[in-house]
Amino acid sequence: MELEKKAILKLESKEYELPIMIGTENERAFDIRSLRKLSGYVTFDDGYGNTAACASKITYIDGEKGILRYRGYAIEDLAKNISFLEAARLLIYGELPTPEELHEFRNSILNNVKIHTNVDHHFKGFPANSHPMAILSAMLNTLGCYYSEMATNDRQSDLEHLDVAAAHLISKVRTIAAMTYSTQEGHPFVYPKPDLPYTENFLHMMFSEPYNEFKADPAVVKALDLILLLHADHEQNCSTSTVRMVASGGANLFASVAAGVCALWGPLHGGANMAVVKMLEQIHESGDDGGNFIEDAKKGKCRLMGFGHRVYKNYDPRAKILGEAAEKVLSVLNKNDPLLNIARKLEEAALSDDYFISRKLYPNVDFYSGIILKAIGIPLNMFTVLFAIGRMPGWIANWKEIAENPESRIQRPRQIFEGHKSREFIQKD
Ligand code: CMC
Repeated sequence: MELEKKAILKLESKEYELPIMIGTENERAFDIRSLRKLSGYVTFDDGYGNTAACASKITYIDGEKGILRYRGYAIEDLAKNISFLEAARLLIYGELPTPEELHEFRNSILNNVKIHTNVDHHFKGFPANSHPMAILSAMLNTLGCYYSEMATNDRQSDLEHLDVAAAHLISKVRTIAAMTYSTQEGHPFVYPKPDLPYTENFLHMMFSEPYNEFKADPAVVKALDLILLLHADHEQNCSTSTVRMVASGGANLFASVAAGVCALWGPLHGGANMAVVKMLEQIHESGDDGGNFIEDAKKGKCRLMGFGHRVYKNYDPRAKILGEAAEKVLSVLNKNDPLLNIARKLEEAALSDDYFISRKLYPNVDFYSGIILKAIGIPLNMFTVLFAIGRMPGWIANWKEIAENPESRIQRPRQIFEGHKSREFIQKD
């Protein structure tokens, strides 16, 4: 990281030299860490749209060009050539795994799939209509209580247990999701099969019944694996920043990713995949071809869910890949979902409309993922849980990056106070 060149900031006739940081891809930033100490000024950046909160080696995005890379590899190449688990290993450990490393990684995930039987009763404690994201967050934190030696909040000790903690989380996030579904459906939970790969095993746990084994279509397995891979990391998004924030205070991996799940839940972030399908259904039921909805979005009455992104000012490369995958999976399953047609029309209309063009609003990853999840038979309230299964390796990689950095500090932003000045205390009668 280059720190030699300097920017000059002039404040009230005084000049301050700010070191310039230049990243691998020529991204530039002023280093303002000493600014307040020297000048009394802080920077104001509500929503962090112009703030690099950290330096990271994991994922690179060029939002203007629509580029996404995990550890230097283009997302298009990864999507074509590797599985979700390979991408997970790449994100966490920095390199594509050799066949032996992958075998070992797969085995450790498989060996940690089972949930302690004492955990079962926690599921029964939730009201029947609890949202699966609330259950997921609570259960991930609960897991830390069952594996307390991996969740000590002693950084050195938690790091020493990272490999096994990561295997538990990548494995069990999927088991918890399937258990939530079967509990809510009132079905007995079906245990994982050791011979099935990660994504197929998830579908087996979700949809098999004791005397009726679910056989997933290979095209469905492939599409779901692709969705997981494309969601595996996305640099400093809302949930990953949350994981890093929690980790920066020294909290263990289980607690940090549980917080990430809560951050992911909102409709502006991971909850958008649910919101897209709800929006498409609403348009379909109203008999609109999407035109009225677009007009309402332009008037600020609603948002075109699955459109727009803080970083991408071009087509989200993940949306491109998933748009094609949606066509394929629907044709293999012989499903003619009218929602896909509405989505295509909305996309076409928005991409030729001045409102969307001038604001550089393009489809994002959530625009097509919901259509695939719906076709596969994943219930709507589980969509964001699927996003969380995919994002788990990214959260782990980011937790690891913070924990391994001896110079990392607790994240503690400043504020501009706009409330009352000091007032005399007078008790109200
Ligand atoms: N529909 C209509 N107008 C929009 C939309 C949209 N989806 N997104 C942004 N705009 C408009 C917004 O009204 C504003 O217009 P103006 O300049 O006239 O005030 C302008 O575009 C800039 O919007 P912003 O809200 O300042 O942008 P942001 O960077 O703060 O928000 C976003 C990014 C993703 C939250 C937003 O685009 C959005 O709400 N999109 C819909 C929800 C969604 O699809 N979220 C998933 C994001 S990708 C996956 C993930 O991160 O989980």
